[in-house]
Amino acid sequence: MAAPRQTEFLRGRHCAKTALIQAGASDHHVRAHEDRSPIWPQGFIGSISHTKEIAIAVAASASNLKSIGIDIERRKRVTDKLAQEICIASELDWLSGFSTDQSHDLATLIFSAKETIYKCLYPSVQHVFGFSAVTILPDLDAGSFNAVLSSEIDTDYTNIQGRFCFSGQDVITSAILTRASL
Ligand SMILES: CC(C)(COP(=O)(O)OP(=O)(O)OC[C@H]1O[C@@H](n2cnc3c(N)ncnc32)[C@H](O)[C@@H]1OP(=O)(O)O)[C@@H](O)C(=O)NCCC(=O)NCCS
Repeated sequence: MAAPRQTEFLRGRHCAKTALIQAGASDHHVRAHEDRSPIWPQGFIGSISHTKEIAIAVAASASNLKSIGIDIERRKRVTDKLAQEICIASELDWLSGFSTDQSHDLATLIFSAKETIYKCLYPSVQHVFGFSAVTILPDLDAGSFNAVLSSEIDTDYTNIQGRFCFSGQDVITSAILTRASL
């Protein structure tokens, strides 16, 4: 592992350990599958994300929650060219109603929300899906988003609600699947 990636990995694991302690876990080690997806200690779920500067993690008991996803991204990193790869037509149409500066912020929000949904669903679906499989509908006033899932994802969920916030240089997104949410 290259040194910067190693640093990010260790910061993420440090946050995961802290989150597991706060959630009441006695095992604080998060191992990894070959595909890099985390293996949470028995009875717990969680999620990790990092940028070059910041790492974040959440952990919770699996008794009420099925899964959780979080993601942090540096604001405005998704410029017009990248947005074309990440967003579907209706999302690009929504972005076109904002100034260039705002649209880079909001395209980054859409990207982060898609990564969050991927992390949240992956433990149950166990397959990779592309950006076009999820449509993000943000509610900017409420700090929330609705993620509409296409049938290409092997799940009974049709949509998932998530939350977001802009914090300093970053945008953070999260989504939870409860045991009762289907
Ligand atoms: C896995 C992925 C989501 C990670 O996102 P990222 O922005 O590169 O990196 P982040 O820092 O936010 O997250 C990395 C952490 O995600 C976790 N992770 C990796 N693969 C995962 C998976 N399949 N499911 C859940 N979590 C995963 C790991 O803990 C990883 O940190 P670590 O390697 O230090 O343990 C991304 O690289 C990826 O492969 N995406 C697949 C395609 C996709 O996103 N499609 C969108 C569908 S709408």
